[in-house]
Amino acid sequence: MTDSLSAQEFKANYDEAAVPSYTLPDPLVAADGKPIDSAEGWREVRRPELLELFRSKMYGRAPGRPADVRYELEESSQQAFGGAATRKQVTIHLTKQANGPRLRLLLYVPNKRTGPAPAFLGLNFSGNQVVCRDPAIQLTDRWVREGEATDGNRATDASRGSQTENWMVERVIERGYALATVYYGDIEPDYEEGWRRGVRSVFPVDGKAKATPAAQPITKFRDDDWGAIAAWAWGLSRVLDYLETDGDIDARRVAVIGHSRLGKTALWAAANDERFALCVSNNSGEGGAAISRRRFGETVWRINTSFPHWFCTAYKQYNNREDDLPFDQHELVALIAPRPVYIASASEDQWADPKGEFLSAVNAELVYALLGKTGLGVTAPPPVDKPVGETIGYHLRTGEHAVLPFDWEQYLNFADRHLRAN
Ligand code: GCU
Repeated sequence: MTDSLSAQEFKANYDEAAVPSYTLPDPLVAADGKPIDSAEGWREVRRPELLELFRSKMYGRAPGRPADVRYELEESSQQAFGGAATRKQVTIHLTKQANGPRLRLLLYVPNKRTGPAPAFLGLNFSGNQVVCRDPAIQLTDRWVREGEATDGNRATDASRGSQTENWMVERVIERGYALATVYYGDIEPDYEEGWRRGVRSVFPVDGKAKATPAAQPITKFRDDDWGAIAAWAWGLSRVLDYLETDGDIDARRVAVIGHSRLGKTALWAAANDERFALCVSNNSGEGGAAISRRRFGETVWRINTSFPHWFCTAYKQYNNREDDLPFDQHELVALIAPRPVYIASASEDQWADPKGEFLSAVNAELVYALLGKTGLGVTAPPPVDKPVGETIGYHLRTGEHAVLPFDWEQYLNFADRHLRAN
């Protein structure tokens, strides 16, 4: 991980008794102090107001949809996984330039289906080749974090299939869902100066509906310009643009999923882009589902210091000043309402504050209720490995910070309930 601070320099609080007392902002009170008591008031007043706050103070503003995208089917086969799925590898060119920014999408669609398939879409950490052992997957040629299966910052064949159990592609297919993934480094490599080699160096944030590349190279950002998480989330929307054109996919039933920093990203993508039908945040922690005011595990100061590129510059003013935030993360969850959202924690992942993640789910309830849905439906944390909830799902899995087969089973069950019920 790109992490400029050693653990010793920061003493995280893991003591529940030392969590300071705090008051959470009420998602149903508008900035002018007026209560929001109707679905219309939420949609017309409060939701736009909260989105604007999260954009201007935390994740940063992103540009619109690019004016000149082009999709290129590089490879496809109906024989993936012994004929269970069709594999497609599609390059999404984001500008007219052949050497401009592009995303490489890996898509598996179940062959056994009666119509366009619902899908899970998630960014991956190390290149598409890690998600399963299919030798036909293109090895990423982009910068990757140095590790066991790399040659410096290049991925090697040794990385193929290394995250098979974190993706469960064959199981997803068996359950009738397509799986779409892109390497997050295609959008922007994950280090402080990574933006120079990513979409943030190409598309200025100019408030125009259609994003076009900057005439001059971009050299700096304003306080509320997009950070890397907003860029990754924007990339997810660009993949959804493609999925809308693919007749094998039912783009009205796409679940966006992400783990950890990419769980933060999935939440922000779903908050912004209402085309995402469902959202799964796995161990997203600080800056994701966890309540910032708890200051349990990772804190605003710590995340802004270790990962200065993730959020917009304006977010740094809240370092060690969590109580001054004009929102908290339960309101990020609420921005997804009334769509289904699943928040998952892991018992050994105290850095991500499982209780704080649970409390976001609890405190988003008011908004779901206003929109006629039961959200989580419980207020007490469930025992480990016992999923709870209705339109908001939650579980605390036994074990470490990861997406594991147990997690996937819960997400597939949750998706069955919400994306398959007619
Ligand atoms: C670090 C970071 C977390 C993040 C995690 C990850 O631990 O502090 O905020 O979620 O990396 O993305 O794996």
